[in-house]
Amino acid sequence: MAAHNKLSDWLRTENISQAEMARRCEYDRSNFHRLLSGKLSPSLVLAARIERETNGAIPAVAWADLPSPTDTSHAGRYPAGGSAFPHRHLLAIGQLETHEILYLLDEAEQWVALNRQSQKHADRLAGLTIINAFFENSTRTLLSFEIAGKRLGADVVNMNAAQSSVKKGETLIDTAVTLNSMRADAIVIRHGSSGAVALIADKVDCPVLNAGDGQHEHPTQALLDALALRHKLREQGREGFNGLVVTICGDVLHSRVARSNVLCLQALGARVRVCAPPALMPAGIEAMGVETFLGFDAALDGTDVVMMLRLQSERMEGQFIPSPREYRHLYGLTMERLRRCAPDAIVMHPGPMNRGVEIDSDVAELAGQSIITDQVEMGVAIRMACLDVLTRRERGVPGWSEGSWA
Ligand code: CP
Repeated sequence: MAAHNKLSDWLRTENISQAEMARRCEYDRSNFHRLLSGKLSPSLVLAARIERETNGAIPAVAWADLPSPTDTSHAGRYPAGGSAFPHRHLLAIGQLETHEILYLLDEAEQWVALNRQSQKHADRLAGLTIINAFFENSTRTLLSFEIAGKRLGADVVNMNAAQSSVKKGETLIDTAVTLNSMRADAIVIRHGSSGAVALIADKVDCPVLNAGDGQHEHPTQALLDALALRHKLREQGREGFNGLVVTICGDVLHSRVARSNVLCLQALGARVRVCAPPALMPAGIEAMGVETFLGFDAALDGTDVVMMLRLQSERMEGQFIPSPREYRHLYGLTMERLRRCAPDAIVMHPGPMNRGVEIDSDVAELAGQSIITDQVEMGVAIRMACLDVLTRRERGVPGWSEGSWA
């Protein structure tokens, strides 16, 4: 018998209404009705809730339409329990093993599914306090960490550095010690100085997540980029990153996104090219194992994925480019240039975009090829996965309390 019929029978036997079951499963009532009539498949999260609420009478595996277990079940793919991700903090992609990156991507899949439902709430972090301390401007990262924490049921507080005592001369360390004294369960930090987040991590008692530190790293950006790319590649019938040619173009010199992405994409098996004007190409970047290009057209030849970067004028002292107009002429991603890439090449940009400078609007919005809005969507799921995984030891999740940090 199909799972939806079994569930209908179970509800009748137990004398529980559909509306009541939908409420218990934190799920939309009308969609639950569609589920019971076999017109809808549950997400993994909903299937797990049904299993819980039926005391195992309708196990999650009963729903034959659930995504392949290889997408979401970790059994045998990773070291057990806390050994799957033995890090107290998330400071840099450079500190992670490939299997740890894959673990976070796989963990995020359940949150992608949840976030696509009308009811997006889970209570996994209920009772926890998460502080987002952003010493630099942000739209995507700050909001997605806030949404991620709230969807997981945590109390989320945003510290706006512009209105904080930092403006009265308080040191970074004193600020960190102050946040720590408030017994935060996780602190998310963005700071303009490379290494500042690691400095804070050393002074506090809870997990610290790097939301971008200077020109160093932006690990959750690289993870969300990898997740968005994985989804698109699967849609194109391609499994895995092996041999994929990714070109990162723009202000590589000032970009923490470029650095984290080079490390992440290479760990997953991609070949990474970086392209920038001479003044914006970091000296010695070849040591990271990338191919470098000063000319954009040559870099695009045979490219499967093109990731554009913004000119980070806030980090530039002096003149790095002659003019935005000339920059677009040489390094802007136009429709004409996109045709130099492999057919159906995927277009990415971490945002914020400067349309008409590093990327034209028609390319940024190119249906079927641009995944820029998917990147934003995946940002919430990745940050939910990171907050969940990093707080497991403190929450006493079985199997996550033993062992020492990597
Ligand atoms: N990509 C990114 O970090 O964007 P925000 O600066 O808006 O957070």
